[in-house]
Amino acid sequence: MKILAIESSCDETSVAIVEDGKKVLSNVVFTQIDIHTKFGGVVPEIASRHHIEKITYVIEEALNEAKITIDEIDKIAVTAFPGLVGSLMVGINAAKTIGLCYNKEVIMVDHIHGHIYANYLESDFKFPVLALVVSGGHTELVLMKDHMNFEVIGETLDDAVGESYDKVARVVKVGYPGGPIIDKMAALGEPTYALPHVKLGKDSYNFSFSGLKSAVINLCNKLEMKGEELNANNLAASFQDAVLDVLCEKTIRATKEFGAKQIIVAGGVAANKGLRKILQEAVDELDDVILTFPSFKYCTDNAAMIGVAAYFQDKVVK
Ligand code: KG4
Ligand code: ZN
Repeated sequence: MKILAIESSCDETSVAIVEDGKKVLSNVVFTQIDIHTKFGGVVPEIASRHHIEKITYVIEEALNEAKITIDEIDKIAVTAFPGLVGSLMVGINAAKTIGLCYNKEVIMVDHIHGHIYANYLESDFKFPVLALVVSGGHTELVLMKDHMNFEVIGETLDDAVGESYDKVARVVKVGYPGGPIIDKMAALGEPTYALPHVKLGKDSYNFSFSGLKSAVINLCNKLEMKGEELNANNLAASFQDAVLDVLCEKTIRATKEFGAKQIIVAGGVAANKGLRKILQEAVDELDDVILTFPSFKYCTDNAAMIGVAAYFQDKVVK
């Protein structure tokens, strides 16, 4: 089955053609990052306007790259939620219009399911699967006993991980999006600053990152008041150390408690080099657990992952 998938939930306009949930025939991504950089974050109204300008062109590009016509497409898929309402509407309208004009079913996909299923492009799932979802808007531990079966066992009580990376980058004035920049800086520094590793008790699978963010802001203000110089790389390393320690501890504890056979990491923060290293080292200590990350191009928002999730939604949920 060939699915034409559309993703427009935030600042990427993306269209992909995916065959049988596994073969990506094309995955065109138009990113608006450069447009939003000067504002230090995504401006929803500007994002929607750019989606409108690009969507038709990106659909055509995806069909051209896959060397197929719209008549050869079986179903349409689109990110329905969560996301910026104005941005989502552009993708949904495009999908419904194609569906109506060419008489094709439209599958409405949860963006987070898409991030999780980006991992299926790397490896088949070995259930039970534990998904660590770490994006700009979400931080969750999700237990999957089967395809399209999602049980949230823990989530953030305040900021998402990616959001806290972006906020710390803004405080240190190093640019947007902060995640990749802080990740690179952390590799060049040492975790010399004392920052809180917030675990919320030994049994909890929930997360909290707002205290860590405030601690970074307070530290920067204190140093400035005292006229002391901040070592930005060391601050990045200290922040990343606090984040990764918490993510890794909860993921490994949940893997053991629920007997997960595979850990998958989903969302933009899955691109983090430090996270890949620390989790791999921890998984190497476990017996018979596979660790899967999406390839870098499928970590941040893209339509291929929506096409994969739509394939399983169509197959399993009906
Ligand atoms: O999944 P995504 O593209 O969008 C949402 O659905 O939210 O994630 C974007 C987030 C941003 O906050 C960005 O800073 C973060 O992912 N990110 C990273 C890295 N690359 C992207 N965070 C940490 N380390 C990275 N290498
Ligand atoms: Zn996303």
